[in-house]
Amino acid sequence: MRNFKKLFRIKRECFLALKRLSLALLPSEIDTLDTTAYVVIDVLRASTTIVTLFERGLSELLVVNNLAQAVEQSKPESRILFGEVGGIPPDGFDYGNSPSEISKLNLKNKKATLFTTNGTKTLCLAAQKGITAVGALSNLDAVALWVGSHESVSIICSGELSGRRFALEDFAVAARFVHKIINMYSSIELDDAARLASEIGNYEGWIASSLTNDHTPSARLITSAQHGQELIELGFAADLQFCASENISEMVPCVVSSEKNWSLLTS
Ligand code: MLT
Repeated sequence: MRNFKKLFRIKRECFLALKRLSLALLPSEIDTLDTTAYVVIDVLRASTTIVTLFERGLSELLVVNNLAQAVEQSKPESRILFGEVGGIPPDGFDYGNSPSEISKLNLKNKKATLFTTNGTKTLCLAAQKGITAVGALSNLDAVALWVGSHESVSIICSGELSGRRFALEDFAVAARFVHKIINMYSSIELDDAARLASEIGNYEGWIASSLTNDHTPSARLITSAQHGQELIELGFAADLQFCASENISEMVPCVVSSEKNWSLLTS
């Protein structure tokens, strides 16, 4: 009942605000964008991790764009330190960046810090531009509703190699968002990349055909992406299935304050 009321409230507030939707295939495009709100996607795995942290009860998350600062800023406030370098937890971190592992933790009323190679950097960049939320497949519908309450929104793909390389899985999730959003709200102006994404729609036709049909399209796509394959080699196959699960959360983590190197999020 509580969830239904919450959804109804968000729906009522959001209708009709959205007029313009842009899509950045790489974080470096952020500088060229001029929208009031931003949705950052790093589906493998930072954005899925962030949604999961709040789903497990976390009260606030400090996201930082460099490793040394993650350690430094965590100590005085006794924050739990999550993150990865090369996919695995750096020395001295409490946990890695594995959403399937995090989904088993009880984080009720706890505070944490997160550093990752791409996702947290993109979040810090976006937060300097405007209102910023975190999007993943796990909170797809909740974020699509959130988007509707802003007049102009950019979806930002985090990519790979500190945001210098395109990542298929982030674009695929962005396409999922664009497809959903244009079906929910009418007469939205799309930029070129968002138009391309809207044509891809449900991406049924170009996902890894080598995987069996009992995998969902999202699972097949994520598993076929380069970073998906790297995570399997590192032993994180469970994360791929987890990151591909749609709408398992209604959390919309948002930045509430930020500076150049850090952003503070609540949900
Ligand atoms: C990142 O931010 O680069 C990722 O979340 C990497 C990972 O899969 O841990």
